[in-house]
Amino acid sequence: MKNIIRKVIYYFEMEINFFYDYLRFKKHYGKLGKLKNSDQSSAWLLQDCHRIEKALTLPNPRRNFGRAVLERLIGNIHVHQNIAGKDKYYYFALSALELYKSYHLEQWGSLPDFYNELVSTIDKNDFIDLENKVDNRSFALLDHENVNFIDMCESRFSCRDYNLDKKVSSKLIEKAVRTSIKTPSVCNRQHWKIHIFEGDKLKELLALQNGNTGFGDKVPYLAVVTSNLNSFYAPIERYQQYVDGGMFSMSFIYSLHSLGVASCALNWSATVTADLKLHKLPYFEENESVVMFIAFGYPNDNASYALSTRKDLNEIINIH
Ligand SMILES: Cc1cc2nc3c(=O)[nH]c(=O)nc-3n(C[C@H](O)[C@H](O)[C@H](O)COP(=O)(O)O)c2cc1C
Repeated sequence: MKNIIRKVIYYFEMEINFFYDYLRFKKHYGKLGKLKNSDQSSAWLLQDCHRIEKALTLPNPRRNFGRAVLERLIGNIHVHQNIAGKDKYYYFALSALELYKSYHLEQWGSLPDFYNELVSTIDKNDFIDLENKVDNRSFALLDHENVNFIDMCESRFSCRDYNLDKKVSSKLIEKAVRTSIKTPSVCNRQHWKIHIFEGDKLKELLALQNGNTGFGDKVPYLAVVTSNLNSFYAPIERYQQYVDGGMFSMSFIYSLHSLGVASCALNWSATVTADLKLHKLPYFEENESVVMFIAFGYPNDNASYALSTRKDLNEIINIH
């Protein structure tokens, strides 16, 4: 009987994996009109605030733009307020409305009728003193100076031999994470989380991962990057978790490297069983999808590194 089950599982491996994804995504994504927690409602606020600020940075912003976005944003402000109260996302959304207003008044001297109608559902007092409640600088300048990114990329290698005695300070880890938060994400939803482990908890997690054989016991720190499925609004975003989460992970790896700390990405191309086991541990919310593990720490002085030769440029680039 066991053999038959094994064969069926093998035969339908693809379907089982996609079905599992489907069930997880369906359960957690933030469907408009059915938002049930603050992760979902704040993700909607963030993305619609972003649509407003983005529209204002276009070469020719359109007068009275965004009625549908404003309707949705204000609807979701109320939903969010009911779920989470007047937290920073609430005020952030209000500051986006203020931005819309001040830009219109400055540029065109008036606001569309729908603006006042929609905003009238929000307590006027909450607009007072907004700039002291949230940081919502609308525009920024680029700084291209002091960046030697190329050298940094060329000098990074995955490390599989760490010095277990040399501690990485929490301050440094926080600095690397802070930099990583600057990673771009879909409509600025920043749906990632990063969990840091040491000691027995690290061992427990590495035991579930299939690519650390031979060096897992030489890993002093482990980061697990996850993405919150509540932050997505439709099945077309099914894989956005991994795109943005992958980018965040890369930023973390480069940030660590820039601070002298080595790392090695570790896949979470996990079986359903491994993923279920991981979610049974007390460290992750059910709505979090694991993007990857990242081993990190100071390298051993005599550590050696795989060269991992790269393909030629012409195998990769296609200029059309
Ligand atoms: C998502 C991802 C998963 C990886 N998983 C593993 C892994 O499980 N075990 C491992 O030893 N290396 C893993 N690596 C590291 C790759 O082998 C390594 O990045 C590649 O060979 C290029 O070498 P470099 O990082 O030194 O430039 C992974 C890398 C990525 C990006």
